[in-house]
Amino acid sequence: MKIVLAYSGGLDTSVLLKKYIEAGHEVVALTADLGESDATAGSGAAAQQEQVRTKALTLGALDAMMVDAKERFFEEYCLPALGANALYQGVYPLSASLSRPLISSLLVETAHRCGAEAVAHGCTGKGNDQVRFEVTAKALDPSLRVLAPLREHPLSRPDALAYAKEHGVPVLQRAEKPYSIDANFWGRSIEAGVLEDPWNAPPEDCYGWTAGAEQRPAKADELVIAFRDGVPSIGGETGAEMVLALNKVAGKHGVGRIDMVEDRVVGLKSREVYECPGSVTLIAAHKALERLVLTRDELRFKRQADQTYTNLIYDGLWLQPLRTALDAFNGALAARMTGEVRVRLHQGQATVVGSRSPFAVYDKHLATYAEGDTFRHDAAGGFIELWGLPVVAAAKVAPHAAGSAKR
Ligand code: ARG
Repeated sequence: MKIVLAYSGGLDTSVLLKKYIEAGHEVVALTADLGESDATAGSGAAAQQEQVRTKALTLGALDAMMVDAKERFFEEYCLPALGANALYQGVYPLSASLSRPLISSLLVETAHRCGAEAVAHGCTGKGNDQVRFEVTAKALDPSLRVLAPLREHPLSRPDALAYAKEHGVPVLQRAEKPYSIDANFWGRSIEAGVLEDPWNAPPEDCYGWTAGAEQRPAKADELVIAFRDGVPSIGGETGAEMVLALNKVAGKHGVGRIDMVEDRVVGLKSREVYECPGSVTLIAAHKALERLVLTRDELRFKRQADQTYTNLIYDGLWLQPLRTALDAFNGALAARMTGEVRVRLHQGQATVVGSRSPFAVYDKHLATYAEGDTFRHDAAGGFIELWGLPVVAAAKVAPHAAGSAKR
């Protein structure tokens, strides 16, 4: 059988690759470059990627592909998520969650191109990622088999190491961090190890992109994020490059550290730590511009729609038609999402300190307490009388039900 395997270069997927080959299958290894290492490794990223590819070929893969999917990730996944201010349970920008449907699409596209009957991933049965991979792959091509070998036969670390030794699977020399880490330019997630006890504070060594309190500069950085039809740019730069650069400057100030107990799709709670300096800053700026240009009713409705959108992404339902419908709604509003937001980065916070837009509904003449006030103060009394009429009428007949003062 010909199989396209989502390959990271790590121990688990390397063992899987070798096992498939030993069993007589043909394996195409696919790795997506989503800007995982750029934020820390800099120029070493290309060399690291080549290492991953070579490793797959050495293990006997028919072919090994490194797909640069950074711009596609930004355009098709991060931008819509930004449009929905997507923060799971109020805080997590869904960096891992957003990448899975893209990787799944790449697996399916590759399978079609090379005539494979199956795609495979190395997720266990406990996480969200298996759901995201499989729902997407099945929706894109129901005839394709989706293999999840680590779900059927869980592989302990000692077993994996023993297998690797016996079958000549090279184990990368770098000292293994005692965490499970997943990263792309939208964010880095860290789980397992000492973090499994929610009482333990995250050790400083779990962070790779953000500075701890002692390392942060005393002086703030301020930047202007410009939006055009909802698309952000900083100093004329947009796309993945913009987010990678923002990760560096916001990360230097320790912005975007998140430590949460989160509810997984499969029902259990897990303790997760994230660092998402760029996405957290962009979402804060995007929300601020919305507050300036959208009407009160649009904002009230959108906050609920944003919640729904966020849950669809987290829950692995990227291809749910409701998501596309909500994209259309967000897209309609984005026609007015043009303007600029000033953000101050300092001591772990990205604080919006200013906003302006040609579409601002904010009207200084209505808001001012100084000269030039055009607000009709005299209209307020009549407004309150009719606005509160149902409450006053109800209180008259049933004062206790209306919660009015005891008599
Ligand atoms: N819990 C997060 C999510 O479901 C992140 C999971 C990423 N995986 C990891 N090995 N850190 O989106």
